[in-house]
Amino acid sequence: MADYDLIIRNARIVTVERQTDGDIAVKDGKFAAVGEVSGTAKREIDAGGKFVLPGGVDSHCHIEQKSGFGIMCADDFYTGTVSAAFGGTTTVIPFAAQHRGMSLRQVVKDYHEAATPKAVIDYAFHLIVTDPSPQALGQELPALIKDGYTSFKIYMTYDAMKVSDYQMLDILALARRDGALVMVHAENHDMINWLAHHLVDQGHVAPKFHAIAHARIAEAEATNRAISIARLVDAPLLLVHMSEIEAIETLRQAQKKGLKIFGETCPQYIALTSDDMDKPGVQGAMWCCSPPPRDSAAQEAVWEALKDGTFQTFSSDHAPYQFNEGGKIPKGDKTTFKEMANGVPGLELRLPLLFSEGVQKGRITMQQFVALTATNHAKLYGLYPKKGTIAVGSDADFAIWDADKQVTVRWKEMLHDNVGYSPYEGREIHGWPITVVSRGRVVVENGKLDAARGSGQFLPRASPDSAKPLGNPAPELQAMSRFGAKPLF
Ligand code: URP
Ligand code: ZN
Ligand code: ZN
Repeated sequence: MADYDLIIRNARIVTVERQTDGDIAVKDGKFAAVGEVSGTAKREIDAGGKFVLPGGVDSHCHIEQKSGFGIMCADDFYTGTVSAAFGGTTTVIPFAAQHRGMSLRQVVKDYHEAATPKAVIDYAFHLIVTDPSPQALGQELPALIKDGYTSFKIYMTYDAMKVSDYQMLDILALARRDGALVMVHAENHDMINWLAHHLVDQGHVAPKFHAIAHARIAEAEATNRAISIARLVDAPLLLVHMSEIEAIETLRQAQKKGLKIFGETCPQYIALTSDDMDKPGVQGAMWCCSPPPRDSAAQEAVWEALKDGTFQTFSSDHAPYQFNEGGKIPKGDKTTFKEMANGVPGLELRLPLLFSEGVQKGRITMQQFVALTATNHAKLYGLYPKKGTIAVGSDADFAIWDADKQVTVRWKEMLHDNVGYSPYEGREIHGWPITVVSRGRVVVENGKLDAARGSGQFLPRASPDSAKPLGNPAPELQAMSRFGAKPLF
């Protein structure tokens, strides 16, 4: 009888701690030995000296989710997780999204019903909280945190999604008390609406005006405000999809002060600019997301923050909509930039784009790549060390990378999402995950999928360390307890 289920020989193994040459043995879906492996396995793969990296963890993606406008994503839990797997990602954390008036418990049940029969890789859920009603704050959220939904996203913009600053305080105080990490979409709603109103009023409705309405200062202001709100109640916070120079600097300064404020960026902010939206008719909608891609100076600031550790995570913010009336352009060629569905696909190309533009071009190291695409996601969201690393006892999630492989992005020929286009069409990518393993199962090999629908498993998550408060609320909050006020959390 074989000692192991799978052995990978002759691998260059990279974790955030080290880079070593050796072998990997897998048994019962977990890493059983890493380094020099003797013994036999049911199957051996010779990696031929290629890099073996932890499977990607994508902690920001929208799958089978309805937008605030009620538009359904193009990807369901099958196509979404298949495309993730082909791109070297083995764990996704999409959202179970509450829309106003909905019970969070029911929302979670619905997302499980959608994911269970379809997902091919493992998944957890963040909650999107749009309606922090007494029922949600008093019962549902505390119970759901206990059940393993230990992070929520809140929005400072979008008419149908936004919470007020007052509601943010309620949500942050609860998250602080019960051990959840709050993710914030930080853009100033009224600045965007005011600019958009005047643009549309004057007939400037093409997609390129999306980048004008979503002004940089709107992101910078909301970032600063979100951090201030979190400081009042001493709650950690993670700012998602950051794109903009001043906002990034605000984040960096908050971290320098020792605050627990984390930051995320995405492929669109290293690989696209607002010029991509400047296309004839409504075609530019294919590149439209919020915040919008900016310019080359902003791209440089994003790289600097990836390099110096200001950003902990590089996520896809996969928000897939087809370029038709059921997706991106609800009113066809009459769709104004205000009516376009926001978001771009990125689950499959997230890792290859960062590998190619970051590691291969010497902007980040291989170990930073692993931290930004896998390990930090698992740590921040309560999945480490089960996910996000190559270590004995961890789930055997990894990919063998061919660093020499040259790929030209062609949606039709090579991508597996259901979007119908890629915003990166025609890009040259240098380096690709050729073999992908999820819990010891070889799910992608020789360009083929070998994973049954529904074989992905749900991952309930413990309260992460990232959600632990510093223990230093604003002085006024501390003063309240001195004159006998009831503790607020
Ligand atoms: O444009 C984007 N990013 N759409 C997806 C929803 C969100 O705000 O993350
Ligand atoms: Zn967002
Ligand atoms: Zn998003």
